[in-house]
Amino acid sequence: MTLDLDTLETSFDLIAPRGEELVDVFYARLFETAPAVKPLFANSDLDKQKAMLLATLVLLRKSLRDLEAITPRLRLLGARHVAYGAQPEHYPVVAEVMLASMAEIAGDSWTEDVAAAWAGALGLVATAMLEGAEQAQAPRRPEPRAIHATVAATA
Ligand code: HEM
Repeated sequence: MTLDLDTLETSFDLIAPRGEELVDVFYARLFETAPAVKPLFANSDLDKQKAMLLATLVLLRKSLRDLEAITPRLRLLGARHVAYGAQPEHYPVVAEVMLASMAEIAGDSWTEDVAAAWAGALGLVATAMLEGAEQAQAPRRPEPRAIHATVAATA
């Protein structure tokens, strides 16, 4: 997928000074749209959580021209999300809520092109995170030494 990098960068830079407001709006909208995910955040320090989400968005903005560089980090982030209880079907919901929150903060400067560009970028983030989640859940093949031990034990 080819991302419209200029559009992504310009639009994010307009929103960035209001980044804290963006993540406030995001969580308010998320819990309103998808109340079922609220228990997943029951033990979260929400202020810390908002700061970490914003930092991830800023990292994404800085890495747009070299997404491969952050793909391993996104996969690890996705792997951690398995333990948080995030399910694959939650990802489109989170992306939609993020797009709506960005649109709210950006106001008139948020056009269909900008929305499409961000839908693409968030889609790539979700794909990398879900790859990491899948790897984290995949049954591990036993180590050769473990196989030898089993063979020896049953011989
Ligand atoms: C674009 C996709 C997403 C991004 C960029 C993102 C980002 C983050 C970040 C940076 C953290 C901080 C903890 C860490 O680094 O491990 C976090 C935690 C968390 N996220 Fe996400 N997330 C995404 C999708 C989701 C989805 C789909 C869910 C499911 C509802 C979810 C639920 C949570 C929960 C429950 C925590 C843990 C809070 C805690 O235990 O304090 N996230 N997320």
